[in-house]
Amino acid sequence: MDFAAHVKSSVDIVGVVGESVRLRKQGPNRFVGLCPFHTEKTPSFSVHQDHQFFKCFGCGKGGDVFNFLMETQGLTFYEALRSLAESHGIPMPASSGGLRSDTESRLREALDQMHEKAQSWFRQQIHSPAGFDARGYIEGRGLSASVQELFGLGYAPAVGGFLVAGFKREGRSEREMEASGLVAKSSQGPGFYDRFRDRLTFPIHNERGKIIAFAGRALRQDQAPKYLNSPETAIYKKQNVLYNLHRAREAIRRERMAVLVEGYMDVIGAYQSGVEHVIASCGTALTQNHARALRRHADTVIVNFDPDAAGQGAAEKSIDLLIQEGLSARVLQLPDGLDPYDYCRKHGGEAYRGKLDEAPGYHDWLADQARSRFDTRTAEGRSAAIRFVDPKIRLLNEPIQRALVAEQVGHRMGLDRMVLSQFVQSFRGTRNQAKAIVNETRLSEGERILLRLMIRSSEARRDLLGDALDLAAKQELPSCKIFEAIQAAAEQDEAFPYSALQGRLEQQERQLLDLTVLAAEGPEPSIESGRRAVEALRREAHKREHQAILRDIAIADQAGDTEKLFDLLRRKKELNAPVVNQERTVTTPQPGSTRS
Ligand code: UTP
Ligand code: MN
Repeated sequence: MDFAAHVKSSVDIVGVVGESVRLRKQGPNRFVGLCPFHTEKTPSFSVHQDHQFFKCFGCGKGGDVFNFLMETQGLTFYEALRSLAESHGIPMPASSGGLRSDTESRLREALDQMHEKAQSWFRQQIHSPAGFDARGYIEGRGLSASVQELFGLGYAPAVGGFLVAGFKREGRSEREMEASGLVAKSSQGPGFYDRFRDRLTFPIHNERGKIIAFAGRALRQDQAPKYLNSPETAIYKKQNVLYNLHRAREAIRRERMAVLVEGYMDVIGAYQSGVEHVIASCGTALTQNHARALRRHADTVIVNFDPDAAGQGAAEKSIDLLIQEGLSARVLQLPDGLDPYDYCRKHGGEAYRGKLDEAPGYHDWLADQARSRFDTRTAEGRSAAIRFVDPKIRLLNEPIQRALVAEQVGHRMGLDRMVLSQFVQSFRGTRNQAKAIVNETRLSEGERILLRLMIRSSEARRDLLGDALDLAAKQELPSCKIFEAIQAAAEQDEAFPYSALQGRLEQQERQLLDLTVLAAEGPEPSIESGRRAVEALRREAHKREHQAILRDIAIADQAGDTEKLFDLLRRKKELNAPVVNQERTVTTPQPGSTRS
């Protein structure tokens, strides 16, 4: 067994997928959840434990545990392998046996290490004499030592060549330096300079807890910008990264809820106040990917942005995205123009937690906004209020939910009964539901039984695969190509994994197989039922041949082609001999054989 196969056989895909998708058990071997690759409200994503394979019957994505990590975390195959091996305590073999990392993985590994180094150097600096002002700043803002420690706050010194010198000492190449985003090429003259100078540093982690970027906060008013962020690099894509998600994840899953704030300091303030399920985007507007990442862990997001106009605009856009991803939203607006950090500082954690508990649902909040913006006692005011809430309600995917919410919002806005019922009516069945691309299965019951059997059992393959393949080929059945793929995979490796079939099949057959095997309900078929299925296929093949001969006889007869006619009649006689036999033994009609 090669190393990748060894790793794969030591991990359980259900556990790995379960870390980032909430899965529910649906059969003896099957788990389902909301697909991380596309937007949906009812689960069509399933993970098959027996076959160690995931498949979404909505968007079609499928694969093994490596594919899952590669797709969801943007890893190369080598990185997925290494990450799995590490997390399961399997030592990576020395770089022999074709397991060398590719260039991209090597670069990213270097960037990981450089970020780790930078973090430890920034941490040393903040405790050094050079970090005096930064320490003063942290204290002045009321951050406790333990939170400072936990969030890894550091200091990037003012000299400008601090990281550059460190990386040079470590023998980092120019290419690695440039790719890291931590240092930049100097525009005057050769060489590099540090991106972060004289700033308080916040490490930014990915969901697995690796440092992939930094933010640097100015320590004085005259430093611009206030926050400097790492640029996008091979390991940092800000539209995918939520600040603090790796720390907050467990709490978010526990509470099924996340608190979304705007700034790094807000996250720290909330955390310090005992609100662990808090996250923020990193110097960028919330994206669909962020919303999706949240939906993998939470049902509800409380949006608590700064109370200024920019913050409110950003809050509304974020909420639209969250709702479109099927999350529920609640809105917290803090009084007196305070952002979460300043509120916590001024009023304490208990008050903040109380505010979060009271935060109204988004649609109640929306209705209240409409009421405060428009005078709903007048006809014009009411219709303006309706125009204001209407597009927001239309964002909801499910017709029934849409109507219910419309009723709730209309009621809260104080619409009278007639207007309310008209208003609710206008939301019935308006938006098209996204249609799943589940293909119509064109396989007979017998083909399905045989496919399920052949994939699991080498005994069934030995006894039945040859016959099944012949009969399927003779009738040009859609399962024929799949039987061939199974045969080829088994020839190469008697215990082949389900994923080994992927590369051997065209898209359409792959879909057919996944539907048959991964979405199958009910117990696994027995060899006995496989034998019956082969016999059913045989009868079917026979019947078709018989019909074809009868048709040809009629044609030859009409054409007066006696030579051909004789030939056909002889073949018909040959063909009929075993049929007569069979009809004598089968006294009761077979279920299924009368259908076609
Ligand atoms: P804020 O200005 O509200 O900062 O920007 P903050 O996080 O509350 O920090 P303090 O309390 O003022 O120190 C909110 C977020 O917007 C991004 C950062 O992600 C910041 O946390 N931002 C802001 C930038 O990326 N660059 C900037 O220059 C300013
Ligand atoms: Mn702020």
